[in-house]
Amino acid sequence: MTFDAAFWNERFARDDFVYGTAPNEFVAAMASWIPPGPVLCLAEGEGRNAVHLAALGHAVTAVDQSVAGMAKARRLAAARGVALTTVVADLAAFAIEPAAWSGVVTTFGHLPPALRRTVFAAAVRGLRPGGVFLLEAYTPAQLAYDTGGPKDPDLLMTAASLREELTGLRFEVLHEIERTVVEGPGHTGRGAVVQVCGVR
Ligand SMILES: C[S@@+](CC[C@H](N)C(=O)[O-])C[C@H]1O[C@@H](n2cnc3c(N)ncnc32)[C@H](O)[C@@H]1O
Repeated sequence: MTFDAAFWNERFARDDFVYGTAPNEFVAAMASWIPPGPVLCLAEGEGRNAVHLAALGHAVTAVDQSVAGMAKARRLAAARGVALTTVVADLAAFAIEPAAWSGVVTTFGHLPPALRRTVFAAAVRGLRPGGVFLLEAYTPAQLAYDTGGPKDPDLLMTAASLREELTGLRFEVLHEIERTVVEGPGHTGRGAVVQVCGVR
């Protein structure tokens, strides 16, 4: 299966929010780590994290390949009365400005390994000194559950792989855990995830 823009546009075509309108639980818990300043949300889908971070006072830019997802992100931002910049782009073609961001945030953005390495290296470079990277994603242990996430092991992440791919960060959190993920109809049930909070 190819998780391209057409796949996600179809997935996000419904009126309700596939991953809900509340922020990801880990992002909500760790948001106070992000210093004041601009935040970049990568593979942001329908905007739930971006809108939350904007409501906390950050100038947020959300990037996703799905035009439908970014349209819903703007709708959610308008409903909450917050400003949000949205960019419809494939992350393969999106340049992350170096040393520009107080935070870079991504949840369940499962990219192919080569692209993941490139994007994560650029994300680390994109942080200002003291800037914070937050990530939650499924690990290979998630393959045992039928509660969301890709079935291709190459798209899944481990704490060990992320430690290497995110060289340059000081890790405050870098662990694999199991938790109950109830985040919209797209993620519901027991899940095996890796969580990262890293400081540049
Ligand atoms: C499972 S959804 C997660 C959305 C959001 N981060 C959340 O947690 O609610 C995965 C998202 O990754 C985006 N995505 C996957 N590959 C991408 C790429 N190469 N460039 C931009 N976005 C991508 C998809 O369009 C989709 O919105």
